[in-house]
Amino acid sequence: MKEGRKGKVYLVGAGPGDPELITVKGLKLIQQADVIVYDFLIDQRLLSFARKGAELICAGKSSNHHTMKQEEINRLLAEKAKEHSVVVRLKNGDPYVFGRGAEEAASLGEQNIPFEVVSGVSSAVAVPASAGVPLTHRDYASSVAIITGHRRDDEEVKIADADTLVFLMPVANLQRIAKRLLEEGRSPETPCALIEKGTLPGQKVVQGNLANIFNDSKAQDIKAPAVFVVGEVVNLRKSLLPS
Ligand SMILES: C[S@@+](CC[C@H](N)C(=O)[O-])C[C@H]1O[C@@H](n2cnc3c(N)ncnc32)[C@H](O)[C@@H]1O
Repeated sequence: MKEGRKGKVYLVGAGPGDPELITVKGLKLIQQADVIVYDFLIDQRLLSFARKGAELICAGKSSNHHTMKQEEINRLLAEKAKEHSVVVRLKNGDPYVFGRGAEEAASLGEQNIPFEVVSGVSSAVAVPASAGVPLTHRDYASSVAIITGHRRDDEEVKIADADTLVFLMPVANLQRIAKRLLEEGRSPETPCALIEKGTLPGQKVVQGNLANIFNDSKAQDIKAPAVFVVGEVVNLRKSLLPS
Protein backbone atom coordinates (compact mmCIF):
# COMPACT_ATOMS: atom_id res chain seq x y z
CA MET A 1 0.00 0.00 0.00
CA LYS A 2 1.21 3.53 -0.82
CA GLU A 3 2.58 5.61 2.05
CA GLY A 4 -0.06 7.71 3.78
CA ARG A 5 -3.01 5.84 2.27
CA LYS A 6 -5.37 4.08 4.59
CA GLY A 7 -7.00 0.72 4.17
CA LYS A 8 -10.51 -0.08 5.21
CA VAL A 9 -11.83 -2.09 8.14
CA TYR A 10 -14.84 -4.30 7.47
CA LEU A 11 -16.84 -5.28 10.55
CA VAL A 12 -18.17 -8.57 9.29
CA GLY A 13 -20.88 -10.70 10.91
CA ALA A 14 -19.80 -14.35 10.85
CA GLY A 15 -23.31 -15.62 11.55
CA PRO A 16 -24.50 -17.65 14.51
CA GLY A 17 -22.39 -20.81 14.28
CA ASP A 18 -22.96 -22.91 11.16
CA PRO A 19 -20.26 -21.47 8.87
CA GLU A 20 -22.61 -21.65 5.87
CA LEU A 21 -24.77 -18.97 7.48
CA ILE A 22 -22.23 -16.23 6.72
CA THR A 23 -23.33 -13.78 3.99
CA VAL A 24 -21.86 -13.93 0.47
CA LYS A 25 -20.34 -10.48 1.04
CA GLY A 26 -18.78 -11.60 4.33
CA LEU A 27 -17.23 -14.68 2.74
CA LYS A 28 -15.80 -12.64 -0.17
CA LEU A 29 -14.18 -10.26 2.30
CA ILE A 30 -12.63 -13.15 4.24
CA GLN A 31 -11.16 -14.36 0.95
CA GLN A 32 -9.72 -10.90 0.14
CA ALA A 33 -8.51 -9.90 3.60
CA ASP A 34 -4.90 -9.02 4.36
CA VAL A 35 -5.65 -9.26 8.08
CA ILE A 36 -8.51 -10.95 9.97
CA VAL A 37 -9.07 -10.07 13.61
CA TYR A 38 -11.59 -12.62 14.88
CA ASP A 39 -13.53 -13.36 18.03
CA PHE A 40 -13.36 -16.59 19.98
CA LEU A 41 -17.00 -17.47 19.20
CA ILE A 42 -16.75 -17.53 15.40
CA ASP A 43 -16.61 -20.93 13.72
CA GLN A 44 -12.93 -21.55 13.00
CA ARG A 45 -13.78 -23.26 9.70
CA LEU A 46 -14.43 -19.79 8.25
CA LEU A 47 -10.73 -18.98 8.61
CA SER A 48 -9.86 -21.73 6.13
CA PHE A 49 -11.22 -19.41 3.40
CA ALA A 50 -8.57 -16.77 4.13
CA ARG A 51 -5.95 -16.38 1.41
CA LYS A 52 -2.48 -17.81 1.92
CA GLY A 53 -0.37 -15.32 3.82
CA ALA A 54 -3.26 -13.47 5.44
CA GLU A 55 -2.56 -12.53 9.03
CA LEU A 56 -5.04 -14.15 11.45
CA ILE A 57 -5.32 -12.62 14.93
CA CYS A 58 -7.58 -13.96 17.70
CA ALA A 59 -9.00 -11.14 19.79
CA GLY A 60 -10.48 -13.57 22.28
CA LYS A 61 -13.67 -12.91 24.22
CA SER A 62 -15.23 -16.00 25.69
CA SER A 63 -17.67 -15.11 28.49
CA ASN A 64 -15.06 -15.65 31.22
CA HIS A 65 -11.84 -14.94 29.35
CA HIS A 66 -11.02 -11.66 27.65
CA THR A 67 -7.87 -12.14 25.63
CA MET A 68 -7.58 -8.54 24.44
CA LYS A 69 -9.07 -5.48 26.08
CA GLN A 70 -11.52 -3.49 23.96
CA GLU A 71 -9.10 -0.54 23.71
CA GLU A 72 -6.36 -2.91 22.48
CA ILE A 73 -8.69 -4.27 19.78
CA ASN A 74 -9.59 -0.72 18.71
CA ARG A 75 -5.91 0.19 18.55
CA LEU A 76 -5.00 -2.98 16.64
CA LEU A 77 -7.68 -2.38 13.99
CA ALA A 78 -6.45 1.17 13.44
CA GLU A 79 -2.81 0.07 13.19
CA LYS A 80 -3.60 -2.71 10.72
CA ALA A 81 -5.69 -0.38 8.56
CA LYS A 82 -2.68 1.92 8.24
CA GLU A 83 -0.56 -0.99 6.95
CA HIS A 84 -3.00 -2.98 4.81
CA SER A 85 -5.84 -2.49 2.31
CA VAL A 86 -8.44 -4.94 3.62
CA VAL A 87 -8.81 -5.57 7.33
CA VAL A 88 -11.67 -7.82 8.39
CA ARG A 89 -12.97 -7.69 11.94
CA LEU A 90 -14.88 -10.96 12.12
CA LYS A 91 -17.53 -11.08 14.82
CA ASN A 92 -20.07 -13.68 15.91
CA GLY A 93 -23.64 -13.22 14.67
CA ASP A 94 -24.33 -9.61 13.68
CA PRO A 95 -21.63 -7.06 14.60
CA TYR A 96 -24.16 -4.55 15.93
CA VAL A 97 -26.09 -6.92 18.22
CA PHE A 98 -24.40 -7.11 21.64
CA GLY A 99 -21.00 -7.38 20.06
CA ARG A 100 -19.41 -4.00 20.74
CA GLY A 101 -19.29 -3.54 16.97
CA ALA A 102 -20.63 -0.02 17.31
CA GLU A 103 -17.83 0.88 19.73
CA GLU A 104 -15.23 -0.45 17.32
CA ALA A 105 -16.77 1.41 14.39
CA ALA A 106 -17.00 4.67 16.37
CA SER A 107 -13.37 4.39 17.39
CA LEU A 108 -12.32 3.93 13.73
CA GLY A 109 -14.49 6.87 12.71
CA GLU A 110 -12.84 9.10 15.33
CA GLN A 111 -9.46 8.25 13.81
CA ASN A 112 -10.70 8.93 10.25
CA ILE A 113 -10.21 5.30 9.28
CA PRO A 114 -12.70 4.12 6.66
CA PHE A 115 -14.95 1.30 7.84
CA GLU A 116 -18.03 -0.58 6.74
CA VAL A 117 -20.37 -2.88 8.65
CA VAL A 118 -21.37 -6.09 6.91
CA SER A 119 -24.40 -7.42 8.74
CA GLY A 120 -24.58 -11.04 9.79
CA VAL A 121 -27.29 -13.47 10.81
CA SER A 122 -27.72 -12.89 14.53
CA SER A 123 -27.90 -15.80 16.97
CA ALA A 124 -30.90 -13.98 18.47
CA VAL A 125 -32.93 -14.99 15.42
CA ALA A 126 -31.14 -18.04 14.00
CA VAL A 127 -30.60 -20.03 17.19
CA PRO A 128 -34.31 -20.14 18.16
CA ALA A 129 -35.18 -20.88 14.51
CA SER A 130 -32.83 -23.85 14.37
CA ALA A 131 -34.58 -25.22 17.48
CA GLY A 132 -38.02 -24.80 15.88
CA VAL A 133 -38.95 -21.48 17.52
CA PRO A 134 -40.09 -18.56 15.31
CA LEU A 135 -39.81 -15.19 17.07
CA THR A 136 -43.10 -13.90 15.70
CA HIS A 137 -46.35 -15.54 14.59
CA ARG A 138 -49.60 -13.92 13.50
CA ASP A 139 -51.52 -15.74 16.26
CA TYR A 140 -49.03 -15.68 19.15
CA ALA A 141 -46.47 -12.89 19.03
CA SER A 142 -46.33 -9.51 17.34
CA SER A 143 -43.35 -8.05 19.19
CA VAL A 144 -39.86 -9.22 20.14
CA ALA A 145 -37.21 -7.90 22.52
CA ILE A 146 -33.54 -8.90 22.46
CA ILE A 147 -32.06 -8.54 25.91
CA THR A 148 -28.66 -9.05 27.50
CA GLY A 149 -28.46 -11.65 30.26
CA HIS A 150 -25.64 -9.65 31.82
CA ARG A 151 -27.87 -7.01 33.35
CA ARG A 152 -26.69 -5.63 36.64
CA ASP A 153 -28.49 -6.58 39.85
CA ASP A 154 -29.19 -2.99 40.78
CA GLU A 155 -31.07 -2.20 37.58
CA GLU A 156 -34.66 -1.48 38.48
CA VAL A 157 -36.05 -1.12 34.97
CA LYS A 158 -38.64 -3.61 33.80
CA ILE A 159 -37.10 -6.31 31.60
CA ALA A 160 -39.38 -5.82 28.59
CA ASP A 161 -43.00 -5.86 27.52
CA ALA A 162 -42.65 -7.73 24.26
CA ASP A 163 -44.54 -10.98 23.46
CA THR A 164 -41.29 -12.84 22.77
CA LEU A 165 -38.15 -12.23 24.81
CA VAL A 166 -34.75 -13.38 23.56
CA PHE A 167 -31.88 -13.30 26.06
CA LEU A 168 -28.28 -13.50 24.86
CA MET A 169 -25.57 -14.48 27.38
CA PRO A 170 -28.23 -15.89 29.74
CA VAL A 171 -26.53 -18.91 31.31
CA ALA A 172 -24.83 -17.39 34.36
CA ASN A 173 -27.98 -15.44 35.33
CA LEU A 174 -30.74 -17.82 34.23
CA GLN A 175 -32.22 -18.30 37.70
CA ARG A 176 -32.33 -14.55 38.29
CA ILE A 177 -33.86 -13.88 34.86
CA ALA A 178 -36.66 -16.40 35.41
CA LYS A 179 -37.33 -15.07 38.93
CA ARG A 180 -37.43 -11.51 37.68
CA LEU A 181 -39.92 -12.36 34.93
CA LEU A 182 -42.18 -14.06 37.51
CA GLU A 183 -41.94 -10.99 39.77
CA GLU A 184 -42.91 -8.84 36.79
CA GLY A 185 -46.13 -10.83 36.43
CA ARG A 186 -45.41 -13.46 33.80
CA SER A 187 -47.10 -16.78 34.55
CA PRO A 188 -44.95 -19.66 35.87
CA GLU A 189 -46.41 -21.67 32.98
CA THR A 190 -44.91 -19.30 30.36
CA PRO A 191 -43.17 -21.53 27.78
CA CYS A 192 -39.43 -21.04 27.33
CA ALA A 193 -36.38 -22.79 25.92
CA LEU A 194 -32.65 -22.64 26.46
CA ILE A 195 -30.64 -23.50 23.34
CA GLU A 196 -26.92 -24.27 23.50
CA LYS A 197 -24.67 -24.19 20.38
CA GLY A 198 -27.55 -23.38 18.08
CA THR A 199 -27.19 -24.20 14.33
CA LEU A 200 -24.21 -26.47 15.13
CA PRO A 201 -24.05 -30.28 15.34
CA GLY A 202 -23.71 -30.14 19.17
CA GLN A 203 -26.97 -28.17 19.57
CA LYS A 204 -28.83 -28.93 22.83
CA VAL A 205 -32.30 -27.68 23.72
CA VAL A 206 -34.11 -27.66 27.06
CA GLN A 207 -37.77 -26.73 26.78
CA GLY A 208 -39.85 -25.94 29.83
CA ASN A 209 -41.59 -23.08 31.61
CA LEU A 210 -40.45 -20.21 33.81
CA ALA A 211 -40.95 -22.30 36.96
CA ASN A 212 -38.81 -25.26 35.94
CA ILE A 213 -36.32 -24.08 33.29
CA PHE A 214 -33.47 -23.33 35.70
CA ASN A 215 -33.48 -26.75 37.37
CA ASP A 216 -34.01 -28.56 34.06
CA SER A 217 -31.15 -26.74 32.37
CA LYS A 218 -28.88 -27.52 35.35
CA ALA A 219 -29.84 -31.18 35.08
CA GLN A 220 -28.99 -31.11 31.35
CA ASP A 221 -25.74 -29.24 32.04
CA ILE A 222 -26.43 -26.46 29.53
CA LYS A 223 -23.42 -24.22 28.99
CA ALA A 224 -22.59 -21.02 27.09
CA PRO A 225 -23.02 -20.08 24.32
CA ALA A 226 -26.76 -20.34 24.68
CA VAL A 227 -29.86 -18.34 23.85
CA PHE A 228 -32.91 -18.20 26.16
CA VAL A 229 -36.23 -17.61 24.42
CA VAL A 230 -39.45 -16.91 26.33
CA GLY A 231 -43.02 -16.74 25.04
CA GLU A 232 -45.96 -18.61 23.51
CA VAL A 233 -44.00 -19.14 20.27
CA VAL A 234 -41.92 -21.78 22.07
CA ASN A 235 -44.97 -24.09 21.97
CA LEU A 236 -44.74 -24.08 18.16
CA ARG A 237 -41.61 -26.21 18.37
CA LYS A 238 -43.56 -29.43 18.17
CA SER A 239 -44.76 -28.57 14.67
CA LEU A 240 -41.71 -26.66 13.45
CA LEU A 241 -38.76 -28.86 14.29
CA PRO A 242 -36.52 -29.11 11.24
CA SER A 243 -36.65 -32.61 9.71
C1 LIG B 1 -21.38 -11.22 22.89
S1 LIG B 1 -22.89 -11.93 22.33
C2 LIG B 1 -22.71 -11.66 20.60
C3 LIG B 1 -24.00 -11.85 19.84
C4 LIG B 1 -23.82 -11.74 18.34
N1 LIG B 1 -23.36 -10.42 17.96
C5 LIG B 1 -25.09 -12.09 17.56
O1 LIG B 1 -25.66 -11.23 16.86
O2 LIG B 1 -25.48 -13.26 17.62
C6 LIG B 1 -22.57 -13.66 22.48
C7 LIG B 1 -23.85 -14.44 22.80
O3 LIG B 1 -24.54 -14.78 21.60
C8 LIG B 1 -25.22 -15.99 21.80
N2 LIG B 1 -24.76 -16.98 20.80
C9 LIG B 1 -23.91 -16.76 19.80
N3 LIG B 1 -23.78 -17.85 19.03
C10 LIG B 1 -24.55 -18.81 19.58
C11 LIG B 1 -24.86 -20.15 19.25
N4 LIG B 1 -24.34 -20.75 18.18
N5 LIG B 1 -25.71 -20.83 20.04
C12 LIG B 1 -26.27 -20.24 21.12
N6 LIG B 1 -26.02 -18.97 21.48
C13 LIG B 1 -25.18 -18.26 20.72
C14 LIG B 1 -24.95 -16.45 23.21
O4 LIG B 1 -25.97 -15.93 24.03
C15 LIG B 1 -23.62 -15.78 23.47
O5 LIG B 1 -23.39 -15.66 24.86
